[in-house]
Amino acid sequence: MVPVYLETFGCQMNELDSELVEGQLIALGYTMVRHVDEASIILFNTCSVREQAEQKAYSRIGIVGARKRAGEELILGVIGCMAERDGLDLFRRHPQVDLMCGPGELDRLPQLIDNVRRTQSMQRQGDADPLALADRSALAGNRSRRSTTLAAAEDNLESLDLSRAFTPRSRSTKEHSAYVRITRGCNKFCTYCVVPTTRGAEVHRPPDHIVEECKRLVDAGVVEITLLGQTVNHYRYQHGTAVTVDGREAPQVGPGLSAFRTAYSGTARITTFAALLHRIHHEIPALRRLRFITSYPRDFGDDILAVLRDSPRICRYLHAPAQSGSDRILRLMNRGYTVSEYTEFIDRSLGMLPDLSIAGDFIVGFPTESDEDFEATCALVKRIPYKNNFIFKYSPRPGTTAFERLKDDVPDATKRARNNHLLALQTEVSRQVHQRMVGATAEVLFDEVRVRRSPRAKAISPQLTLRGKPFHEATVGHTDEGHEQVQCVGRTSGDLICAITCKSEESASFLIGKTAFVEITAATPLLLSGALTHS
Ligand code: 5AD
Ligand code: SF4
Repeated sequence: MVPVYLETFGCQMNELDSELVEGQLIALGYTMVRHVDEASIILFNTCSVREQAEQKAYSRIGIVGARKRAGEELILGVIGCMAERDGLDLFRRHPQVDLMCGPGELDRLPQLIDNVRRTQSMQRQGDADPLALADRSALAGNRSRRSTTLAAAEDNLESLDLSRAFTPRSRSTKEHSAYVRITRGCNKFCTYCVVPTTRGAEVHRPPDHIVEECKRLVDAGVVEITLLGQTVNHYRYQHGTAVTVDGREAPQVGPGLSAFRTAYSGTARITTFAALLHRIHHEIPALRRLRFITSYPRDFGDDILAVLRDSPRICRYLHAPAQSGSDRILRLMNRGYTVSEYTEFIDRSLGMLPDLSIAGDFIVGFPTESDEDFEATCALVKRIPYKNNFIFKYSPRPGTTAFERLKDDVPDATKRARNNHLLALQTEVSRQVHQRMVGATAEVLFDEVRVRRSPRAKAISPQLTLRGKPFHEATVGHTDEGHEQVQCVGRTSGDLICAITCKSEESASFLIGKTAFVEITAATPLLLSGALTHS
């Protein structure tokens, strides 16, 4: 059994890709290991969205490269967006890398590993030439955008999603929670973003495939499913247009923005995002929670909000990144909406679903962003009851329109100051949003047991993480010196993190993967705490 270590950087899409890659490798007889030192094959599933994520991966590549140079027999593979973005240049600059595989070619990864293993073993016997680059790399390059029909026909990746192992043992997600992809790639071309280049054109999976995958996950014990897409509300599958040779529906390339501007008047049968949500909720009553990320702040119709309103098991959570509060910057970003259109969308959503919880993303220091533009962003953060925001300093990415056309002219010190200022503002908004929950009763899905053995536990947090995201502030009670504090932590339907204190690790573990009602008694900007209700 060959031990493989796979480390994932970046977004949920990557987490899901890693899970599918693991499933593929396990089915072929490989073993996944948790520590890099135990592995003979080391894979990094990388992210290119910001330079920082790439630097982190390069430093890992450097460490493994040094081990190889020192004579260890290892296979080092770089998969995901960095492989796609850097292309064969990565081999030249990092000769210790044995193989590369882009996110659109992951179904070919086992073949690449096999090629490298066979060649290395023959080379050890002095019996082989170095492997040709084409036999140790699989990159989409321009292929994925060559033609819409070609891209769909060549969408071998569908087989990767369909090959999913339905055992709830995945390492990348919690056992009872799973991701299901509904679209791949992106057609929006926000000027700062590499995703349309690295992940290719937006491809929509057939609804039957999605529903079937959800059903099988629920049969395997999953209680919460998160649907994944770069812009989920633009999911739209036109039946009868993309079929495989044996007549089954195939993935199809998503329509352009104009498809959402006017009401559809054709005769073809369409599954919209609202219809997809309704189908999953209706056809899988055993599914406790259905969530989706990420929403694009335009073309989010009332039909979707109505399905949420009428479907109690769909979470009251919307991740709808605004990116900026300045119309001028939004235009430069090619986001396709104005601030007032964004606030109209949020107000409309809260009007229909008053308990909806909203999260977002902002980029600070985008080229030419002035103090005035930044103040407009601050005003938006104060205006919307965001439960949290992910705030990023603009990172110029080669190959994007912003990189080619706009000078990265906001000094790093200014970006940092704006980032800190916005974080402080958001902390205050989060405090208010969480505080509003005190006195309420919320259904919580429990995810994690935390035991604190150190003396006088004041802050349970900073070293703890939930779903890979660090807690910055999470003060939950005190313990006496030497005492152990056990907590069970979960999330409300609106994705607010909630902790209860338990008598023992056993009683806390019993709650994992279950939902229960909690009476909220206290709140900080990042954490609710309370006790189970007795009903
Ligand atoms: N620089 C900074 N942040 C970026 N994001 C995407 N591209 C960049 C970039 N070049 C952020 C956006 C997006 C999130 C996933 O990452 O806010 O919503
Ligand atoms: Fe990137 Fe914009 Fe697509 Fe999101 S919508 S993945 S930010 S191009």
